[in-house]
Amino acid sequence: MNLKIALLGGDGIGPEVLAQSVKCLRAVEETFNHQFIYNEAPVGAVAISNNGNPLPEETLRLCKDSDAILFGAIGALEYDNNPDAKVRPEQGLLKLRKELGLFANIRPVKVFPVLLEHSLLPKKVITGTDFVIYRELTGGIYFGKKTLSDDATYASDLCEYTENEIARITHLAFKAAKKRRGRLTLVDKANVLETSRLWRKVVTEISNSYPEVHFECLFIDNAVVQLMMNPSQFDVILTENMFGDILTSQGSVIIGSMGLLPSASIGNENAMFSPFHGSYPQAKGKNIANPVASIFSAVLMLQHFGLYEEANAVASAVQKSFVKGVTTTDILGSDKYGTDYVGDFIADHIVDSDEDPNINDENIGLGRSTII
Ligand code: IPM
Ligand code: MG
Repeated sequence: MNLKIALLGGDGIGPEVLAQSVKCLRAVEETFNHQFIYNEAPVGAVAISNNGNPLPEETLRLCKDSDAILFGAIGALEYDNNPDAKVRPEQGLLKLRKELGLFANIRPVKVFPVLLEHSLLPKKVITGTDFVIYRELTGGIYFGKKTLSDDATYASDLCEYTENEIARITHLAFKAAKKRRGRLTLVDKANVLETSRLWRKVVTEISNSYPEVHFECLFIDNAVVQLMMNPSQFDVILTENMFGDILTSQGSVIIGSMGLLPSASIGNENAMFSPFHGSYPQAKGKNIANPVASIFSAVLMLQHFGLYEEANAVASAVQKSFVKGVTTTDILGSDKYGTDYVGDFIADHIVDSDEDPNINDENIGLGRSTII
């Protein structure tokens, strides 16, 4: 397969973890005879310092012209510490999501048996955790009208949703639930928010078309508790933009490290793949960041294009790195292996499973799909 891939490393550790994914994709090209074309482009704080724009026109054009985007991370301390900054790195990512119509953010959270001991939560609580969050990504409070009074003593962010915006991601989430364990949980705050009541109405109506899926609703404040106490009860979680941001970060704590989980942002025409984690500026250039979330993002990309064997080969190689203890300091607590080394190890272990049946003994794959 020929694929044109835009590489948007962004800020902090973004470029270094993304470089490891590219190593793995090059190994996939070689092993499975594909041709991927990579084009790099700036976004975020890096782009602001180049020309004042967190999402330059050329970057947007490149993304629109590509089959997929691999994204690193966004955000920088100088902006985090300066609430007055009018131009912010995150605007680049938000504009990219909006312009490309990436309305569904899909974030799988699945425990890795070999890493069970590494979570802060007890093993008996997290065993069996395997859920996926469908987060609406281009609506809600993130994109509603924002105001700040002239004297800067009053501010507001409007949360808006239309029926259509809710319906399109809801169908994707139900279809996913149908293929998985047949449970869908809508997380909202329908006891307080009008937008949540609209979500409930629309999602409940749509649920009638998916009778094989067990549908339930949960308030967000209850959902965060349930997620910590009994994460394995969840299969597909559907939620709006802001709740999804918070829940997905909370989900990553279950797994043991923010540095392990990938996400896919899907629209009708475009698809972008990126780690859950932020730019972790403190680690930039130190060769300590975990590249696995980025590498798993490449796995999601391969799955998106139906390249399941290729996806499994990369995921198996990651699994091999866990089994052999070739992991970065966030998992192992020692600085024996750096970002580069882990990336090289994983890329070197990508093989066609038909040629080496033994390498799949620890495969995390469930059927053909490796992560979701
Ligand atoms: C995420 C991030 C972004 C978000 C930021 C960087 C704008 O936290 O993708 O979860 O809030 O959506
Ligand atoms: Mg977030």
